[in-house]
Amino acid sequence: MDQIVSLCRRRGFVFPSSEIYGGLGSTYDYGHYGVLLKNNIKARWFEAMILERDDIVALDSAVILHPRVWEASGHVEGFTDPLVDCRTCKLRFRADKLEDSQCGRKPSKHPGGTPECDLTEPRQFNLMFETTVGPVKEAGAKAYLRPETAQGIFINFKNVSQLARRRPPFGIAQIGKSFRNEITPGNFLFRVREFEQMEMEFFVPPADAERWYRYWIDERLGWYLRYGLRRSRLRVREHGPEERSHYSQGTSDIEYLYPIGWSELEGVANRGDFDLTRHSEFSTTKLEYVGPDGERYVPYVIEPAVSLERIIVALLVDAYDEEVVGERERTVLRFHPQVAPVTAAILPLIAKDDSMVAKARSLHEELRRRQSVEYDDNGAIGRRYRRQDEIGTPWAFTIDEQTLADDTVTVRDRDSLAQERLPIGGVRAWLDDALEREWRTPKGD
Ligand code: GAP
Repeated sequence: MDQIVSLCRRRGFVFPSSEIYGGLGSTYDYGHYGVLLKNNIKARWFEAMILERDDIVALDSAVILHPRVWEASGHVEGFTDPLVDCRTCKLRFRADKLEDSQCGRKPSKHPGGTPECDLTEPRQFNLMFETTVGPVKEAGAKAYLRPETAQGIFINFKNVSQLARRRPPFGIAQIGKSFRNEITPGNFLFRVREFEQMEMEFFVPPADAERWYRYWIDERLGWYLRYGLRRSRLRVREHGPEERSHYSQGTSDIEYLYPIGWSELEGVANRGDFDLTRHSEFSTTKLEYVGPDGERYVPYVIEPAVSLERIIVALLVDAYDEEVVGERERTVLRFHPQVAPVTAAILPLIAKDDSMVAKARSLHEELRRRQSVEYDDNGAIGRRYRRQDEIGTPWAFTIDEQTLADDTVTVRDRDSLAQERLPIGGVRAWLDDALEREWRTPKGD
């Protein structure tokens, strides 16, 4: 994890937030390549969940919702973690995760594991961030920053099913920020207080819920494999009844083997009719499906839910590689070409050669309208290749002496390091084709 954090910082993917003020624990800002990576992951998710299907529509609901939403959802009452304070070291821990925490004075021990530890009784701590709506900080104006995007979808069930003329099975998907005042955030982006969720609520006839639950576990697992995560690093773990959330009739985690061990990447839950029933009660608006011949029922909901942050960490861990090529070490991010922040680099071999620069610039202009491409003429060619390897650019096109003679360029493959020559006029089509090819990580399964 340390190597990945350091690479992310060095290459401008992710920075600690508010750094010039000393940082604010577990919040991060994304730099240029981090933003490009995030945009690609969102685009791939949006394609798989919406553009490639006929049964899911998009939504972008507000971050601050009516406070009754969170009463109905059970978050005001139950979205809590038990915490204990240590009166000696003044640190705060999750009472149910003491075995995973370190004592503030003796990190080799768990909290409570030394005679000096003086832990309080556990108390429930609500993870929602509170805010006040309007200029006066009065009781009636209390609101929350959403801790999940899902509730914005449930409260729009009626709008979408009527206006978009949808009948179960159909889904509503959204991507957006969520906020949780985690007691023990950490492990880089894995557990943060502000994160971007990608959630989809799939409304189905109750009798079909189990089938769709299994379907969505398979679909989501397939999505990770499609974008290059190694099969041996992924597994599905079904929750036992005691582990499930209050709303769940069945939950499975798609887990990834992070450096901290097997941990939840994405959750897939069968939420039953809990959410629509509760919002019907609390809002007095009926949220149900009424068929053309009068048949009516409250649909069950199957929900795949993940954060970009957990995907980013998994992709980085899976893609990170170090190897010796010739006599030189290189660090390389072996991203799937469709998620890599930069698809191709355009490199004039000699930066001072006006003819090479002109050809390289013109190729860059042609490609940039369609792909994320980067022009780089800074430094020796070997250094430029290594820079592109570190940000995970799958292909580099080099314009050299021969280009001036016969209008061909070399393309270098990030993973195999193979080089081939092709006409400069064919680069655009070559790149479109290469992006469509099936890609497997050279790191194996
Ligand atoms: N709507 C259901 C829901 O929010 P969850 O298991 O609490 O369920 C869903 O969260 C996903 O959101 C998780 O699988 C994980 O990918 C991500 N997630 C949750 N808390 C997170 C945090 N503090 N930091 C980063 N990602 C988080």
